[in-house]
Amino acid sequence: MKSFLNFLFWFSLLCGCDSPRPGPTVIIPAATETIVGQDFFTFEKEALIVYDDGLKEAGLLLSLYSNRPTATKNNLTPLDAAVDFSIDNTLSEEQYNLNINQTGVSITSGTLKGALRAVQTFRLLMPEEFETPQSEKKAVALPYVSISDGPAFGYRGMHLDVSRHFFPVEFVKKYIDLMALLKFNVFHWHLTDDQGWRIEIDGFPKLNSIGSFRNETLIGHYNDTPAKYDGTAYGGYYSKDDIREVVEFARARGIEVIPEIDIPGHSSAILAAYPEFGCKDHADKVATTWGIFDAILCPKPETFAFLDAVFEEILPLFTSPYVHIGGDEAVKSRWQQCPNCQALMQRKGLKNEYELQVYFVQKVAEMLANKGKSIIGWDEILEGGLSDKATIMSWRGVEGGVAAAKSGMDAIMTPTSHCYFDYYQSEKENEPLAIGGFLPLEKVYEFNPIPEGLDEKESAHILGGQGNVWTEYLDSPQAVEYMAFPRMIALAEALWSGSKHKDFKNFAGRLERFKKRLDALDVNYANHLYEIKGAFDQSASVPSYTLSTSLEGQCIRFTTDGSNPTAHSTEYKKPIPISQNTIIKAVVFQGNTPVSGLFEQKILTHLGFGKTVVISPNPHSSYSSGGAKALTNGIDGSSKRFGDSEWLGFWGDDISITVDLGEETNVTSLSTRFFNSNGQWIYAPKSISVQADGQKPVVLTIKNENTLVSVQVPVHAVTRFLKIEVVGFGKIPDHLQGGGHPAWTFIDELKIE
Ligand code: ACM
Ligand code: ZN
Repeated sequence: MKSFLNFLFWFSLLCGCDSPRPGPTVIIPAATETIVGQDFFTFEKEALIVYDDGLKEAGLLLSLYSNRPTATKNNLTPLDAAVDFSIDNTLSEEQYNLNINQTGVSITSGTLKGALRAVQTFRLLMPEEFETPQSEKKAVALPYVSISDGPAFGYRGMHLDVSRHFFPVEFVKKYIDLMALLKFNVFHWHLTDDQGWRIEIDGFPKLNSIGSFRNETLIGHYNDTPAKYDGTAYGGYYSKDDIREVVEFARARGIEVIPEIDIPGHSSAILAAYPEFGCKDHADKVATTWGIFDAILCPKPETFAFLDAVFEEILPLFTSPYVHIGGDEAVKSRWQQCPNCQALMQRKGLKNEYELQVYFVQKVAEMLANKGKSIIGWDEILEGGLSDKATIMSWRGVEGGVAAAKSGMDAIMTPTSHCYFDYYQSEKENEPLAIGGFLPLEKVYEFNPIPEGLDEKESAHILGGQGNVWTEYLDSPQAVEYMAFPRMIALAEALWSGSKHKDFKNFAGRLERFKKRLDALDVNYANHLYEIKGAFDQSASVPSYTLSTSLEGQCIRFTTDGSNPTAHSTEYKKPIPISQNTIIKAVVFQGNTPVSGLFEQKILTHLGFGKTVVISPNPHSSYSSGGAKALTNGIDGSSKRFGDSEWLGFWGDDISITVDLGEETNVTSLSTRFFNSNGQWIYAPKSISVQADGQKPVVLTIKNENTLVSVQVPVHAVTRFLKIEVVGFGKIPDHLQGGGHPAWTFIDELKIE
């Protein structure tokens, strides 16, 4: 039986056999090809795992997960080994084949890496109880399968910020093992930032004694006023032995560890310890709050000597050919004031501080090249015209990655829109406090690191993608797990399986079954799979509203009279037509039992409700999921999640919108809201104007104050069309987050009365 089954699903049979069959089993990320047979192979308690030369570590890893013995293949090895790892030179680095039939398990791969990926697939075929370290050693029936598999992208990363909060080695190892399970291959370890330096340095001990500790930590959200602090000293750092232990643990799972030393900005902790490497006369402290700071290293010889010595000390701990040197959000104001920096710019003929940043990055890149390492930097390092050998990590959208690829540099895609797992993942108001934004599971799943508009040669420079876990608001391993899971599972499939079998409902079904393994692994995942999602029906001729869940085949019951749904409420079958103010309430039921939280959506009609809207330019592709109709569908955007489908986001553009009311209509006003979250470069616009047919535009200047800015523009005209012009905030001031770059504008429902 040949089928492209993404999951293998069978029930325990009541057959007297003494080897239990594993319950429903899922392969995530989906394999390239899976053929399921009819029968089972018994993996005995003492079954032997044997391997070719060079594949020993795959054998040992499988031995660890399965609690079975191993042996090298030689003339003494018994012929009836249960698992056989062998080399097949026709396979590429991470490809493997895994076959289970009556003779046992045969795994072939071109390299050790491929064999290590196969081990993780094999792990998924074993019952979940094998994940529990103390589980009793049992014989187990494994299904006959034939799997051939390999990755869509060569770089599949997960990042962890250990500066904002510090996590024990045991947790870092757990995180890496979970990454391995999902076939990630790079761990990006963000080891330094304003809030703490987290790696032992002998040559500069104050980096640890001062730089690794802060006096206290902000409580609540960065935007809360007044700011509150906990009054408790916080800190820590990894010893060199810790680092070695983690790097070795990762290596044994086929995962490379890329350390990040974030310079020249994000350097408050360095400068608190060694102010002499900054521009003159600044007294920095290890930061106790979030955001960005003007602390920046001064590009003078002693600073480069310091960096050289630091890298000399830490590079032997890491085996990756890459070092991440940060380069993000480097505020240039001190460089503008510093006589040393200005004199250097004169001497080198550098036109501005962006070119000075290029100078800085090039010096560090050269220093590291001499030590045999290549640099990765956040996309800011392209500013000022860097065109050297560097790999660009594109985070402020995909534009930096596109620019890099077009100029022949490699890029890794980690856009905030799809890869920032510190954003909210649910629209529920009672989620744990997060930095902001909204990145639901489905959006992560849809991520494709290759943006439109790149040709084949340019696309080859996109190495892959990465999920980022910034930890300002994550102060425990459980909090990290909640934000990373299940989103990193969706990312794993986006990066390993690529677009071939992309099917979110199918993925959600597998994920539902995968939860049992996450439970066995004691992962504190978020569970929003039953959550109901609503959407305005874009295609219907009359305004209507659809309800859905990530999981297929669920029974959604709803009301429109304000009452809470019961097991007897109407079952949702087709879009709900909307002709007046309506509150839709809905719950997923299994029989008489509610299994989801209460979904509630208010739809408030107005004169523009369901009318045609034309927008120029189009909203940015990362924040356009609701389409133009989002502006007239009677639904407000979330007050907290600008990334939902009701807000439309525009990057740096002024916006022209025309609403066609269909006929001459008596209009008194137009109201709307703008999002204003400056830490995420979102600013209320400067002004909005509304023009009725044959009238002068009415212009309203906008103040940039609260997180939500509501405006009401008086119109008082009989008109068919309304022309709306929104003048964006423009360039963000240099000393603020996103300084020097265009601000985003986010606009909500256009309520016409
Ligand atoms: C970043 O998020 N500052 C790279
Ligand atoms: Zn300076």
